[in-house]
Amino acid sequence: MKAGVFQFSPRFGDVRSNLERVRTALSGTDAGLMVLPELCLSGYQFVSMDEVRQLSEPVPDGPSVRALSDLARSRRMFIVAGLAEQADGKIYNSAVLIGPEGWMGTYRKTHLFFEETLWFSPGDDGFRVWEADGMRLGLMICFDWIFPEAARSLALAGADIICHPANLVLPYCPDAMVTRSIENRVFTLTANRTGSEARGGKPGLRYIGRSQATGVRGEILFRMSEEEEGVRVAEIDPLLARDKRVNEYNDLFGDRRPKLYGI
Ligand code: ACM
Repeated sequence: MKAGVFQFSPRFGDVRSNLERVRTALSGTDAGLMVLPELCLSGYQFVSMDEVRQLSEPVPDGPSVRALSDLARSRRMFIVAGLAEQADGKIYNSAVLIGPEGWMGTYRKTHLFFEETLWFSPGDDGFRVWEADGMRLGLMICFDWIFPEAARSLALAGADIICHPANLVLPYCPDAMVTRSIENRVFTLTANRTGSEARGGKPGLRYIGRSQATGVRGEILFRMSEEEEGVRVAEIDPLLARDKRVNEYNDLFGDRRPKLYGI
């Protein structure tokens, strides 16, 4: 199957035009799974809680999930997209999984980065895996990459493909995700954004692009450049992620010694 990412530079605060760019980009691909960046409809660098509230929506009954559901239905594809979610008087930095039949689930970012801690409540539902037409999809968001427990938890829960919306500003993640693939024998799809934001007199943020897909042995199936905008896809056989054998003596999960990892 084909799976990929759409790397672009969302316009801050312009949900409608960002959705339109997503619609145009995804309409041009026959991939079965597409991952979009973190907070890809609102933009990232908020300057007030009012702004965060205005640019967040309920899930699944908000307009963006409805629009993405229409797209997933018409393209017969699965979409993972980062957005700001309103729920129970809180705002979460979330990623939604949407398929041809509509919304399937939401992951709320566990490890908030930098000023996200001012705006968002941390997710506390843990790391879940969804079955999607024979693929097992696990979701994590951006800075979760620096905690190897996130990818490990998803792999132990059965993920074949880790779908990873991101707004990366540090340079390390693309190489780290190669290791996440090797140590868990999973595919990863990191969808990052491009461009920069400098709002409200704050120091500017420059996003590193370099969205990528990795294979179960850490192969880089593609890696985009820092500036490039567009869709990239890779051919993936999700079943390869179910075999955790390294050689005839070693199995990545069978050889774990969790009793020794207690500290
Ligand atoms: C990040 O978590 N957006 C770096």
